[in-house]
Amino acid sequence: MNRRTFLKAGAAAVGGLAASHLAFAAEAEILLSPGEPGAVINPHIYGHFIEHLGGVIYDGVWVGRDSSIPNVDGIRKQFVDDMKRIGAPNLRWPGGCFADGYHWRDGIGKVSGRPRTYNFWQRRMPAGIDATETNQFGLHEFMHLCRLIGAEPYVAANVGSGTPSEFHDWVSYCNAPTGTLSLADERAANGDPQPFGIRYWGVGNESWGCGGAMRPEEYATKYRQFVTQFPNYTDPFLVATGPRGHSADGDIGWTTGFFEAMHGFEPPQGFSLHFYTDLRPTPLEAGDFKAPEWYEVLLRGMRLDKVIDDHWKEMGKFDAAHRTKLVIDEWGVWYAPGSEIAPSYILSETITLRDAVHTGMTFDIFNRHAEKIAMANVAQSVNCIHSLFVTQGDKFVRTPVYHVFDMYRSHMGARQVPVSNPVANLNVPVLAGQAHLPGLSASASIRDRRVTLALTNPSLDSSLSLRVSFAGGARATEARASVLTHSDMRATNSFADPDEVKPATHPVRVVADRLELNLPRQAVVLVECAIT
Ligand code: AHR
Repeated sequence: MNRRTFLKAGAAAVGGLAASHLAFAAEAEILLSPGEPGAVINPHIYGHFIEHLGGVIYDGVWVGRDSSIPNVDGIRKQFVDDMKRIGAPNLRWPGGCFADGYHWRDGIGKVSGRPRTYNFWQRRMPAGIDATETNQFGLHEFMHLCRLIGAEPYVAANVGSGTPSEFHDWVSYCNAPTGTLSLADERAANGDPQPFGIRYWGVGNESWGCGGAMRPEEYATKYRQFVTQFPNYTDPFLVATGPRGHSADGDIGWTTGFFEAMHGFEPPQGFSLHFYTDLRPTPLEAGDFKAPEWYEVLLRGMRLDKVIDDHWKEMGKFDAAHRTKLVIDEWGVWYAPGSEIAPSYILSETITLRDAVHTGMTFDIFNRHAEKIAMANVAQSVNCIHSLFVTQGDKFVRTPVYHVFDMYRSHMGARQVPVSNPVANLNVPVLAGQAHLPGLSASASIRDRRVTLALTNPSLDSSLSLRVSFAGGARATEARASVLTHSDMRATNSFADPDEVKPATHPVRVVADRLELNLPRQAVVLVECAIT
């Protein structure tokens, strides 16, 4: 865990995930190459996900029109305001596993006439607590929410228990101009004459599991049946079910099997990859932990880097031009049950500084792989797994993860910039002994002449004194920075202490052409600077 030796930029590989070095650093110099920008970081990488599960939709998002909780037509106002504030680019809905049991017609029309239906998550509810789906929040409510936020809708269609014709009707209902199809007129009669213009459609979810327990070749056949007659009112972006990336073997077999079976057919625009930092099989707790558990979570999270590379390479064997991009539409740290806000809020967790640091490191991975990723969606935005918000009735709090989303905003739509990161790996305690973890996570981007540099120091012990240089004669002229950290690695935001973990401005100096700053231990720092 100690860092001692100063290392010069260029002495090691780009990207912060190089093999362990001989020496550790208390100081380091990193090199940015703004003159060699890479891919645009798709804003959709900073995307969202809400599912009919526990307290996500009902309470987290939907409080009802008659609620005393401030709301916009039944939608929690604070949720709308904060999602807008961070520029939430998209929203995936209605699941998750729920999607493959959902029949869209149940959620349209007069609210009082909507049926009560079975929810997949009933099986996880504590004895005596019911998860009956009331369908009060349906398609029109979802679209209203998206419009209020300014988020692009991403709808997961029912392949597991639905039919191609049900799917096609849903698409037509959403996208056909009023006055053309009866379905479009029905939408207009239900209050929305303007077509929804939904481009992003997930063709099933986790079809290897809760979405139908299929083999990849079976799913490929289903996929083709579902998309061949797709009603083309918009330029569609269809997302096929991809692998369970957090499986021990990365589930590369799913990717191989699907693309083999798709040989000779039109490939999807997107291929979903789910990657949970899955601690459910471990005794790790979400809110109470020591150093080995801190590092274990971060180390497991960093596996995503290789999982992305492996699947991308595999996809390239079938599609050298990479027409299909990755859509990482579920990611987050998933702990075993135990820290739910209330028994019915299944899969809700205590979110600490550890999860915020994990978020920074994950976003750096996404940014560095920008050319491969069309979208990513945190699982889930509120009251579930890696949440940005926790709510209970009139109580609402932003978690430390929310602040990282807020800090990284300026990466959205900017062009990725290579970062030479020579910081030595840390030798850290984990559950099974010792392991190596990158000593610094970094990613950078440029828009016009403004550079954004994200830096995460995962060490619990030592700060890092950093010099940031620019290749190709670029010079920094002014800079500002913010930091998210806390003296307690377990720090969290609660209803009683909502601002325990929040960003603060952070000193950064422009010295000659470079930047100098100190990176505190267990911290995420975001630097924005102008260059000439
Ligand atoms: O996000 C919770 C669940 O995790 C989703 O419903 C499912 O797709 C995944 O297994």
